[in-house]
Amino acid sequence: MYVDELPKIPKIHGYKLRRGIPVAKKLTIGMYHKKWRFHRDLAESSVFVYGKTKRSATFPGPTIEALQGVATHVEWRNHLPKKHILPWDPTVPTAIPKNGGVPTVVHLHAGVTEPESDGSSFAWFTAGFKETGPYWSRSTYRYLNMQRPGNLWYHDHALGLTRQNLLAGLVGPYVIRNHTFERPMNLPCGSEFDRHLIIADRSFNTDGSIYMNSTGNDPTVHPQWQPEYFGDTITVNGKAWPFMNVQRRKYRFRVISTSNARYFNVRLSNGMNFTVVGSDASYLPKPVATESFILSPAETFDVVVDFSSVGVNTTEIEVTNDAPYPYPDGTPTSIPNNRIMKFIVEPKKSPCPPDTSTVPANLIADSDRYPSVVEAAKQATLRRYIVMYEYWSNITGEVTHLYINGKRLEDPVSETPKLGSTEIWEVINLTPDDHPLHLHLVAFQALKIQKLTDLQDFTNCMTQTNDAEKCNVDRHLPTTTSTANNNTKNIVEYEKTWKNIVKIETGSMTTVVVKFDMVENNGPFPFDATAEPGYVYHCHILDHEDNSMIRPFKLLK
Ligand code: C2O
Ligand code: CU
Repeated sequence: MYVDELPKIPKIHGYKLRRGIPVAKKLTIGMYHKKWRFHRDLAESSVFVYGKTKRSATFPGPTIEALQGVATHVEWRNHLPKKHILPWDPTVPTAIPKNGGVPTVVHLHAGVTEPESDGSSFAWFTAGFKETGPYWSRSTYRYLNMQRPGNLWYHDHALGLTRQNLLAGLVGPYVIRNHTFERPMNLPCGSEFDRHLIIADRSFNTDGSIYMNSTGNDPTVHPQWQPEYFGDTITVNGKAWPFMNVQRRKYRFRVISTSNARYFNVRLSNGMNFTVVGSDASYLPKPVATESFILSPAETFDVVVDFSSVGVNTTEIEVTNDAPYPYPDGTPTSIPNNRIMKFIVEPKKSPCPPDTSTVPANLIADSDRYPSVVEAAKQATLRRYIVMYEYWSNITGEVTHLYINGKRLEDPVSETPKLGSTEIWEVINLTPDDHPLHLHLVAFQALKIQKLTDLQDFTNCMTQTNDAEKCNVDRHLPTTTSTANNNTKNIVEYEKTWKNIVKIETGSMTTVVVKFDMVENNGPFPFDATAEPGYVYHCHILDHEDNSMIRPFKLLK
C-alpha cells in the first residue's frame, strides 16, 4: 500500500475561447483497449478506457471541464476489440451484436441532457458504429451545460454490460463551472488544491488482469451473473492505495465512487473532519462538518479537508473505510479493503503559496438558492410507490434477479410524469441490502426514511400483488413521526441538497421528492424532454442494474 503517487487526472476543455469569450466546442473521445499499471508491483492490466487518443487514454478517463451555459458536443467513438476482456452473460437482458464487438453507449451521470443524447441502454454501438442498438440515433451527443455548476461524471450504459464496461475502466469525471457563481465562495482552487478522487474497488489476477467471476452464484440460472461485484483492492484515480503529498493547508476533493457495488464509509485516520460543501451535482446551502460520510456507488461528495490543523507530529493520515459489504449487514471490512489512500503531510508549517482560500458560512447566496424541498413537496401532484424486490431460486436459495415494481426494463413504461410537475416517490426496499437509486435527467431529494414494521407479512403481500395500497402500507409505517423511536429517520445533513443518488435503506420506505423540471435553474428544460427514447431510473449497483433493477420513465407534455 501507498507506494504509488495519486495521479492527476488529465483535463480536456469542453469549450473554446473566441476573442476571450467561451464558445461551444466539439470533442472526439474514443474508447480504447490498452494496458494500465494499477500498482508498482503488479503487472500491467488490460483495460477499456476513454481518451482523445489511445496514447492519452487513462483510467479513469480525462476530466471534461465545461462552463455553465456553453455547450459541449462529444462524438463518442468505440475502438474496442471484437472480444471483451471480462466475462459476460447472455442470460441477463443484454446487447448481443451479431458480428462480435463490445457494445458501448455513454451516459453523462447527473447531466440535464436531451433524451437523444442521454445514452439509453438500447442506443449501444460497436466499433466503427458497425452495429447499433434499436434506439441508436446519433454518434455525437449534445451536452448543453445549462445546469448549475457541479460534479458530474460520464460512464458506459450498454444494455446488460454496464457492470463489465465500468469495471474495465469506462468512467471519467465531468465538471461544470461558473466562475461568477463559484469564485465568491473562495474554496480551494487550481489543479493543485482542487482534486478529483475517483474511487473504484477491483480485484486482480496474479498476471495483473482485472478479475471478474466467470461463474454465477447460481449458474443454472445465470452462468456468469452474480448479485454484487466486490474488489479487494481499492483504487483511486487508477492506482491501488495511492499516497498524496499535501501541504498544511485546505484542499478540495471531489470524491466520486465508480465502484460496482461497494459502499464506503469514508474517514480520516486522525479523526479529523471533512467539510462537505456539495453532494452529487449540487452545492449544499451551508458547509457541513462530519467525521465520516457514507459513499454509495455513483455518489459524489465534494469536501474540503484542512491539513493546517494537523498536529506537528502527524505526518501521515490514512483515508479508511469501515462499511460492511454488501451494505449494511454484510461482511465487515478488513485489510486490505478498509484502506483507501494516504495523505503524507509536509512537515513544513507554512504552505507555499499561503492558503487564502476559505469555507464560507453560506455557500450559496439567497438569490441563487435551489428550490426548497419542503416547498416542492407541497406542490406535488402525484404520489407513486416504487418498490424494490429481489428474487431467489427455490432450488439453490441464491438471488437470481432484482426488479422494480415487479417489472423488467423491457416491460411497458408505467412512470409517465407530467413535464414540469412535482411528484412524491415512496421508495420501498424489500431486500436485505441498501440500493442507491438514480434517476436520469432530474435531481431529487429525500425527505424522510421510515422503517417498515411486520416486514415479512408486507413483503409476502407485495410479492403477490405488487400493490402497496392493497397491502396497507400505511399500517406498516411507524405510527409516530417522531424520530425518538428510531423508526423514522431524518436525512443526514450532508445529503440535504438536490441529489442524483438517494440511498434507499433496507426494510424502509424513503420519501423522495422529484421535480420534473430543471431544479438547477428553477425552470423548464432547455430541450424537448418528452422526446424518444425517454429516460430510465435504476439502482446504481451495476450488477443490479444489469439484471434488472432498472425501469424506463417517460415525460408527458
Ligand atoms: Cu450513472 Cu443510468 O447512470
Ligand atoms: Cu440495487
